[in-house]
Amino acid sequence: MLQLARGMVLTLAARDSLPSFNGSIRFAGNFLRVDRLPRGPDLRGARKGARELKVLVLGGDGFCGWPTALHLSARDHQVVIVDNLSRRVIDEELGCESLTPITSIGERLASWHARTGRNIEFVQLDLSREFDALLDLLRSEEPAAVVHFAEQRSAPYSMKTSRHKRYTVNNNLNATNNLLAAVVESALDIHVVHLGTMGVYGYSTPGLTIPEGYLSATLTDDSGASVRAEILYPTNPGSIYHLTKSQDQLLFAFYAKNEGLRVTDLHQGIVWGTQTPETALDDSPSTASTMMATTGRC
Ligand SMILES: NC(=O)c1ccc[n+]([C@@H]2O[C@H](COP(=O)([O-])OP(=O)(O)OC[C@H]3O[C@@H](n4cnc5c(N)ncnc54)[C@H](O)[C@@H]3O)[C@@H](O)[C@H]2O)c1
Repeated sequence: MLQLARGMVLTLAARDSLPSFNGSIRFAGNFLRVDRLPRGPDLRGARKGARELKVLVLGGDGFCGWPTALHLSARDHQVVIVDNLSRRVIDEELGCESLTPITSIGERLASWHARTGRNIEFVQLDLSREFDALLDLLRSEEPAAVVHFAEQRSAPYSMKTSRHKRYTVNNNLNATNNLLAAVVESALDIHVVHLGTMGVYGYSTPGLTIPEGYLSATLTDDSGASVRAEILYPTNPGSIYHLTKSQDQLLFAFYAKNEGLRVTDLHQGIVWGTQTPETALDDSPSTASTMMATTGRC
């Protein structure tokens, strides 16, 4: 930070240095205050010749979705965030808020545009209930990929009462099934990417490395003969939330096998942290990523 008293003159003479200045200049009391923000990514070099794609980020107002949307936008992909803002409603229900303050989705998007000149669109839509609107969106946007984060993501929340169990199952499974059914109905070649959780495997260890993708198993049929089969590694969920992620993977396998959909399902461990290079472009709450306060992570 540089402070100039009133009457002093700040001369930015080196024209070439101006584009690298990333900050704000304002009066604070008797001083002109110059704040330099933390260095963000060099957006001019972010493309690196990659093909620009249209990507829908479902759950793009959330902890993982928002930084993902900014990351893709910084690389010149056209990003559309789809979210029903239910996580903000759940925070109100629980009387808590993000550990890092965040602003409304409108303010976040406006801040990103002001900082980078890039536009991210936002569509408020409940994936678990609004199938027709989702299908219309796919048909109008024709995305190359959909990144699916839009689920109730807390194991403790999913176990609170029967209402929370039913909500988590209805929300998560219908969101995933509606997405897959809409991709089929659209007849578009859309790559679906989903964040599942390693919690589907439970918290004990069988003492072996869980295989990526399908497991080659040898089963014994009724006559005692060996039968080879490619199966998903068996899940052992410890909560209703983890159960929905286990069932998600069956939905993905089913739609891949029967409808030929292209799906990548990541069984991700816990994600934590408060900044990415893109969210750090703005030190106000406008682009901060949310941090869950009390509801527990996956
Ligand atoms: N954060 C982690 O550590 C972690 C680890 C593994 C997997 N995951 C998974 O990644 C995804 C994102 O997690 P997160 O931590 O960002 O959670 P989050 O709650 O911050 O984000 C999820 C977003 O999806 C939205 N959403 C929920 N249901 C919706 C619906 N029916 N329609 C539209 N939008 C809906 C919410 O409003 C929220 O903005 C979740 O599926 C979660 O299970 C997260």
